[in-house]
Amino acid sequence: MKRLFFALWPDHETRERLYAVSKMLPEKYGRRVPRDNLHITLVFLGSIDAQQCRAVQQAASGISSRSFSLQLDRAGKWPRAKVFWLTATTIPEELTSLVTELNKSANDCGIKVESRPYSPHVTLARKAKGPVPRLDLKPFEWTIKSFALVQSNTLQDGAVYEVIQSWVLGRSG
Ligand code: 2AM
Repeated sequence: MKRLFFALWPDHETRERLYAVSKMLPEKYGRRVPRDNLHITLVFLGSIDAQQCRAVQQAASGISSRSFSLQLDRAGKWPRAKVFWLTATTIPEELTSLVTELNKSANDCGIKVESRPYSPHVTLARKAKGPVPRLDLKPFEWTIKSFALVQSNTLQDGAVYEVIQSWVLGRSG
């Protein structure tokens, strides 16, 4: 069994920018997500077997979504989950339709997915304590040209993510 999820996996420059935002958080505010782990989850699949994995990879290959940009301009916290995140005020239609398609693919492969409404975010810190710190956030654009299937491996020091496959999105416009 593998623990898998579909994600938007940042390019090098975007990853650095995301990490720079998390570095603005006070040291003791929470547990900063390691630079290499930063991403946006599209659909969390959970633990699935090799056959389901192959089926969902094949289904994902049939998706024809378009490339898009995300203007990351809003930071905040879910108090109960103690998660500090970064998101976009405007969620492009291409992102919503990509998630819908991926959910459909997972369903068709008999994989049970989250029924909660989708809320795209980059988790920057976990176990975030206290009120949201004031950050001098400079909005920036993330041009998304692909999506990925990622495996989560839980090690002693925390999760390590490994991209198993990625798919290029069609040109926008
Ligand atoms: P999070 O960043 O908000 O915690 C790998 O665990 C990724 O899948 C994380 O980005 C996590 O989101 C997301 N995820 C979504 N649903 C999950 C679930 N039920 N259990 C664990 N991770 C989940």
